[in-house]
Amino acid sequence: MVFVKVAAVSDIPIGKMLGVKAKGKAILIANIGGKLHAMADTCTHASCGLSRGEIEGAVVTCPCHGSRFDVRDGKVLEGPAKLPARVFDVKVDGKSILVNV
Ligand code: FES
Repeated sequence: MVFVKVAAVSDIPIGKMLGVKAKGKAILIANIGGKLHAMADTCTHASCGLSRGEIEGAVVTCPCHGSRFDVRDGKVLEGPAKLPARVFDVKVDGKSILVNV
């Protein structure tokens, strides 16, 4: 596991999310009230990219069939997905966002 630079802090304003790639993994970074969170950008239902969906507060809604995940812990709030999404540690170094992948 190593922290990898994935984006600039300025890329993700409060209330927004961004899909990035790190070491071949698709990761969603969300800015929830100024705190950054990282979760797998792959829905556990049928692998749609969650960052193409909607975010409201800490809740990400999958664009394909509407599963809802809490981006802070990856838990499923509403199906059809049953399994939680993996979450990753995030840190800020200067103007960069790094994720532990
Ligand atoms: S792929 Fe996300 S809800 Fe089906």
